[in-house]
Amino acid sequence: MRPVASVLLLLLVADGVNCQDKCSYQDVLNHLNLTKNNELFSMTRPVKNHRRPTQVYLEVLLYAILDVVEKDQKFIPYVWTVMRWHNEYISWDPNQFCGIDNVSLPTEMLWKPDLTIEEMTEKDRASPSPYLSINDRGDVEVQNDHVLVSTCRMHIYNFPFDIQSCNLSFKSVIHTVKDIRLRPSDNSSEATEWSREVMRTQYEWLFINMTVTANNASDLLSQDIIVYTINMRRRSVLYIVNFILPILFFLSLDLASFLISDSGGEKLSFKVTVLLAVTVLQLILNEILPSSSNSIPLIAVYCIGIFALMMLSLMETILVMYLIEKDPRDKETVKKQSLSKDCNNQGKANIHNCHEEMHKWTHQCARIYDGAGETSSELLPVAKEHTGGKLVEEYGALEEVSDELRKVEKTLTLLLRSRRDEFEPGYWTRVAQRVNKAFFIFYVTLTQS
Ligand SMILES: *[C@@H]1O[C@H](CO)[C@@H](O)[C@H](O)[C@H]1NC(C)=O
Ligand SMILES: *[C@@H]1O[C@H](CO)[C@@H](O)[C@H](O)[C@H]1NC(C)=O
Ligand SMILES: *[C@@H]1O[C@H](CO)[C@@H](O)[C@H](O)[C@H]1NC(C)=O
Ligand SMILES: *[C@@H]1O[C@H](CO)[C@@H](O)[C@H](O)[C@H]1NC(C)=O
Ligand SMILES: *[C@@H]1O[C@H](CO)[C@@H](O)[C@H](O)[C@H]1NC(C)=O
Ligand SMILES: *[C@@H]1O[C@H](CO)[C@@H](O)[C@H](O)[C@H]1NC(C)=O
Repeated sequence: MRPVASVLLLLLVADGVNCQDKCSYQDVLNHLNLTKNNELFSMTRPVKNHRRPTQVYLEVLLYAILDVVEKDQKFIPYVWTVMRWHNEYISWDPNQFCGIDNVSLPTEMLWKPDLTIEEMTEKDRASPSPYLSINDRGDVEVQNDHVLVSTCRMHIYNFPFDIQSCNLSFKSVIHTVKDIRLRPSDNSSEATEWSREVMRTQYEWLFINMTVTANNASDLLSQDIIVYTINMRRRSVLYIVNFILPILFFLSLDLASFLISDSGGEKLSFKVTVLLAVTVLQLILNEILPSSSNSIPLIAVYCIGIFALMMLSLMETILVMYLIEKDPRDKETVKKQSLSKDCNNQGKANIHNCHEEMHKWTHQCARIYDGAGETSSELLPVAKEHTGGKLVEEYGALEEVSDELRKVEKTLTLLLRSRRDEFEPGYWTRVAQRVNKAFFIFYVTLTQS
């Protein structure tokens, strides 16, 4: 215990010896002649020769991604910036001031580089830090936090599986490289690592990495620009659960509705309800996605595709219902149908009978004429021969007519048969069922692909 105490005492004594009663920060400021109305510090760039540009080292850390608004193409990060530069008028020996090597001052007392962010569209929401710090070698450091409302071109083609990269470009407002040279104090991997360490909360967007690009000015009249590119990935689980899956569910509901009977309006109203549900989801999508995008996002194509499928199936249902409606369903119509069938059959029979009778009649006629020919043949051989020839001719003509009639009968039978088929009950229902089945297969294959 004793050696330790004596060492402590020795240290205290040594401190007392070094300190020549100038142990306050004000002593340092007095030594520098740094007062509020000393224009040397606050008015101009702190260099003794104006040809020497001030090197400004910039460090940017990303604390949080507060918001990303695709609709307005707006990116709101919460960042922490540290600026360091050298002031040639500041220097002191810490040994003269009780070892003080670091003093903090109100920001308005010293000159500061006028850095701005190109993408910023609104005034900084966070109030600027009231203090800066200086050290004995003349380095000045300003730390600030910013809630940056910045523009960012978003590519939402892959929504909700998209990766966005937004730029923050730091540069001086008026100073060219003759006055200010801008340097990043860390490279991309360091910036990424440190941002990961300080980042506290991540909501929808996951920080991937940060790239630092120093765009050096090519001539003396332009400016140095440091671009911080923040890459981030969207958490898509919620969109899958809230959006993509429900649409798939609606589609499967629509598929399942093929099992509902076609008669009655339930199937139709069910399908219309499902279609309306998809429309609501589409409206939500419309609110999320920006209208400015040139290429249609995949999710919109997906949505409209499913909507189109459902609409097709709705139209198919309407068609099927129309076809079934064409079929006689109640008994009265069935009776009427059978009656008309009978009539048709009767008509056919009549023609058949007529044809038969005609056939018979011609045969009888021929016989009578033949008989007449036989009786009068002895009396009038010449006349008999004459009439006989005539009779044969007439008989032939009659046969021809009967043939024609037979043909007519045949075509009529055919016609009638086809018409009878048409009016067979359930024909259209079967057609409808066939259409239904074909469409169902078509639907399923489309859904699969
Ligand atoms: C300190 O600054 C004041 C006015 O700004 C000036 O009058 C004075 O001479 C300066 N003192 C020293 C030691 O430079
Ligand atoms: C002053 O000290 C603080 C705290 O240790 C440090 O963050 C800051 O960088 C120092 N200032 C300078 C100009 O070195
Ligand atoms: C972001 O900055 C990089 C580097 O300067 C540049 O290549 C890229 O085009 C910028 N992106 C946007 C969206 O401006
Ligand atoms: C970034 O800087 C660190 C430390 O200075 C260094 O180890 C690392 O290799 C650098 N990375 C790149 C990509 O330059
Ligand atoms: C940052 O992430 C993007 C996207 O994943 C990648 O293309 C890029 O190479 C990464 N940059 C670095 C420095 O790791
Ligand atoms: C810009 O200048 C610095 C310092 O001279 C240098 O380290 C850096 O590589 C330069 N960057 C580019 C892109 O030329």
